Amino acid sequence: MLPRLCLWLLLLAATAFGVGGTKVAYNDRALVIDGERRIIISGSIHYPRSTPEMWPDLIRKAKEGGLDAIETYVFWNGHEPRRRQYNFEGNYDIVRFFKEVQDAGMYAILRIGPYICGEWNYGGLPAWLRDISGMQFRMHNHPFESEMETFTTLIVDKLKAANMFAGQGGPIILSQIENEYGNIMGKLNNNESASEYIHWCAAMANKQNVGVPWIMCQQDDDVPHGILNTCNGFYCHDWFPKRTDIPKMWTENWTGWFKAWDKPDFHRSAEDVAFSVAMFFQKRGSLQNYYMYHGGTNFGRTSGGPYITTSYDYDAPLDEYGNIRQPKYGHLKDLHNILKSMEKILLHGDYKDTTMGNNNVTMTKYTLDNTTSACFISNKHDDKDVNVTLEDGVTHVVPAWSVSILPDCKTVAYNSAKIKTQTSVMVKRPEDGSTQSLTWSWMPENLQPFMTDEKGNFRKNELLEQITTSGDQSDYLWYRTSFEHKGEGSYKLHVNTTGHELYAFVNGKLVGRHHSPNGGFVFQMETPVQVHDGKNYISLLSATIGLKNYGALFEMMPAGIVGGPVKLVDPATNTTTYDLSNSSWAYKSGLIGEHREAHLDKAGQQWRSLNGTIPVNRPFTWYKATFDAPAGSEPVVADLLGLGKGVAWINGNNLGRYWPSYTAADMGGCRQCDYRGTFKAEGDGLKCLTGCNEPSQRFYHVPRSFLKAGVENTVVLFEEAGGDPTRVDFHTVAVGAACAEAAEVGDQVALACSHGRTISSVDVASLGVARGKCGAYEGGCESKAALAAFEAACVGKESCTVRHADDFRAAAGCDSRVLTVQATC
Ligand code: GAL
Repeated sequence: MLPRLCLWLLLLAATAFGVGGTKVAYNDRALVIDGERRIIISGSIHYPRSTPEMWPDLIRKAKEGGLDAIETYVFWNGHEPRRRQYNFEGNYDIVRFFKEVQDAGMYAILRIGPYICGEWNYGGLPAWLRDISGMQFRMHNHPFESEMETFTTLIVDKLKAANMFAGQGGPIILSQIENEYGNIMGKLNNNESASEYIHWCAAMANKQNVGVPWIMCQQDDDVPHGILNTCNGFYCHDWFPKRTDIPKMWTENWTGWFKAWDKPDFHRSAEDVAFSVAMFFQKRGSLQNYYMYHGGTNFGRTSGGPYITTSYDYDAPLDEYGNIRQPKYGHLKDLHNILKSMEKILLHGDYKDTTMGNNNVTMTKYTLDNTTSACFISNKHDDKDVNVTLEDGVTHVVPAWSVSILPDCKTVAYNSAKIKTQTSVMVKRPEDGSTQSLTWSWMPENLQPFMTDEKGNFRKNELLEQITTSGDQSDYLWYRTSFEHKGEGSYKLHVNTTGHELYAFVNGKLVGRHHSPNGGFVFQMETPVQVHDGKNYISLLSATIGLKNYGALFEMMPAGIVGGPVKLVDPATNTTTYDLSNSSWAYKSGLIGEHREAHLDKAGQQWRSLNGTIPVNRPFTWYKATFDAPAGSEPVVADLLGLGKGVAWINGNNLGRYWPSYTAADMGGCRQCDYRGTFKAEGDGLKCLTGCNEPSQRFYHVPRSFLKAGVENTVVLFEEAGGDPTRVDFHTVAVGAACAEAAEVGDQVALACSHGRTISSVDVASLGVARGKCGAYEGGCESKAALAAFEAACVGKESCTVRHADDFRAAAGCDSRVLTVQATC
């Protein structure tokens, strides 16, 4: 019998080395999990961009979509908003998030960063880092490295304590340190320090003993020891990792793109995403992560990046509200199933790439034990379909910009350009506006104390930088000064600012407002002003709209009226009469309503209402109303059309910044959309954009958990620019129309509604290509037999499947066998 102490030691060792846990290793072909090479399909869901109540549903949908893993960044400035004051509550409950992933039976990928980019305020770095002396961001220096290590260790320890790493039986199979450092390394002045820093990152990470591999993305040169480098981009098939003994992994396949206040919506087609994934696995890919699988929402002022809208929908397979986006979701799910069925041969087989004719067409054959084979044929032509004849003499047509997958090298089981899944059109209900009218009350933001320069936190004879001065605890910073003038006078007030937004008051009167066009940060404001005899006051309110998050030395980009100049210019001669840049300026961060937490609707606040009438188009005004939550489980949105710019809260929960008065630019990409050809998010050749010349964001997600059923709910708005809240409305969002196409007799056609809604009618069942778009098909060549079959199988059901039958015929002259169906939910 073993003595007690020995038994105890054995037990301790077993826990430490993860007996009972999962072992994650790797070779040149794949991650090796418990001895098995594995294809991993993963998707990004950022926990703060949804609510804990949404997590299980999002994760379940990801799993049903054929995903094995959920990936997330860690959000340093959300977790540590003030130095050593931590937040792991609510949508920052990172352990709960990973437990949900584990409960769903999925793996997790932990991207700590803690610099994360991610269209997140300041790239995730807390603004208080700036206050530490000697601090140089993302370089080899003790102040930064020590803070980064403290935070990284805190996160790792928290996750270890909850047994979240694979070796402990938890879901986490990979972890990332830093983010795309390779993209900026060459642009930093001190290459040596940059190199030392990235090597320090690797050593610090490896010291954490997490028991799973550490990765770095976009770190193709100077890859530190013990690090696996990975690819990010719209396409990664031609990329290979630095070392030959590590697998080819793709950490960010961008499923769409983020939206900025001045930009229309980006859409990356299901065909193109599928094409990129299929190409990647054709060329030895083994792990692929969709960035984003669910983009979600930037709730609150610290979540969004510079000029990034509150919506972070990203055109992801799950939409901002958590709805399934079809056909993207289903088309990728079909692809995942095929790839998973080929896991063994793709990760163990021998392979041969053969280019056919020219470099644009490649046939790849995987063979295993000389007995089984699997083939991919890719056609990178953006306008030419090709015929490819395989060894068996059979010719396959491969459409332009597509990949055909033949799991047995004989039959095409999947082509990335042929969508078999339904297309859903999401509708907002009620479609003609809310059934309830809200009664509003209002309260002015008290600007009076700021209309002179008497009061302030402190004074300085210069124009200070905003992030440092306010500590990024508020969007707003007041700059105030005064000057003596003899007699009356007319001038132009000239302010040079690094943004992002500016309001100017002279002697208590709003004289000008401006924001940096196109998110360009730096701008000048010039506005005519009248001054009077004696003392005149100038009050400038500068506001930030999310801090810069990307680029070499992004953290050095100042905000606010730093340095100015602020001048009064003689309009006749255009010469400066008064340069006020070095006057005595008084500073105050934040608004009074913010300090008083007006959004919490506490007792004692002076809400006013005269029989329900309120002032509209009045800047700096708080509004409040009560409303009933829409019944049911469908996601809810607030329609904020009519408002200017500000922030909205529901029952004290921040919905994020709103700015429906900002119209998206008119870009050529709104007028062309062909999925064939390289997808881009910047520069020339943009395509498939929508929403040009429309409010860049009109609808704002109200998660169900923010709402209370059966009791009054409160909406509070802080309207900064002036708007009309009486038009504010609430809607639900769910599938309105479901359409599908079947190319051949025998194909199964599946249709589904969402949230328990049933199909109320089948509107179109037509042979030949129906004209128009899903939701508004005009039909033509109707098949009575098909219509009858779909009506019988679908009406009154949440979902249905009907086989395209030979006796589905239309009138003479309608020769096509392509069946198009449209149903209404
Ligand atoms: C990548 C970055 C991500 C995100 C993405 C664009 O370069 O790693 O964090 O910013 O671009 O959405």
